[in-house]
Amino acid sequence: MKSILTYEVADFLDNLLDVSNISDPFCKNGIQVGKSNLPVSKIGLMVDPCLEGFSRARKLGCDFLITHHGLWKFGEASIINTTYNRVKFLMDNNISLYVSHIPLDVHPEYGNNAQLAKMCGATDIVTYDYGLICNIDFDIIELKNRFDSELNTSSQLLKFGSDLVKTAIICSGSGSSVLKNYYKDYSKIKNVDLLITGERDSSIYHIAKELGVNVLFLGHYASETVGLKALIPEIKKHFNIEVEFIEIQTGL
Ligand SMILES: [Fe+2]
Repeated sequence: MKSILTYEVADFLDNLLDVSNISDPFCKNGIQVGKSNLPVSKIGLMVDPCLEGFSRARKLGCDFLITHHGLWKFGEASIINTTYNRVKFLMDNNISLYVSHIPLDVHPEYGNNAQLAKMCGATDIVTYDYGLICNIDFDIIELKNRFDSELNTSSQLLKFGSDLVKTAIICSGSGSSVLKNYYKDYSKIKNVDLLITGERDSSIYHIAKELGVNVLFLGHYASETVGLKALIPEIKKHFNIEVEFIEIQTGL
């Protein structure tokens, strides 16, 4: 059987996630560590590129990893300390690392935001900043419980708005700053009664309270597992290869 090569998986993901058309000031997207002609026999996915995850991946027989966070931004060149150890581990074990950050947050189908929107049956979805605005129809406590059970997380709710949620901003990861645009983008976000994001951010507490907007912090990690998981069936279908999500919970 013809082996699948690293560049073929990378090209497939670049196309699927429209990487060339999405700017990302936070991360270099695409292959961060690897050689184009290395064979790929099993693909692992995880949120954070860390030694614990790399070691688990090696034990599972993965030779191609997809992570959401990366080892460096575009243009960064220093490979030192923890980054040195991670890169060395990958190179010593012939494991390639492909990173998809903002492209995997914002993709209209596989993106973290789109997948979170799907979990709450969202409609009328429009992109906004690195997130999206959508209509939902949910009691706020029921919605919290749904996310807790779907994402295996313990979310935190700042209950500053109405019990019934009609319009939400969803922005995975560290997304609470979108509420700070409230006055600048008033016409777009004036009806929002809930912000759903990942990371707990104390700087948003009083802003949300004074605006009367609920905030649901899902946990940064939990909010960014869903996009990776959504890629699994697409990769399996295209390459007919073993693919596994590697859970490295941070609780954060
Ligand atoms: Fe993130």
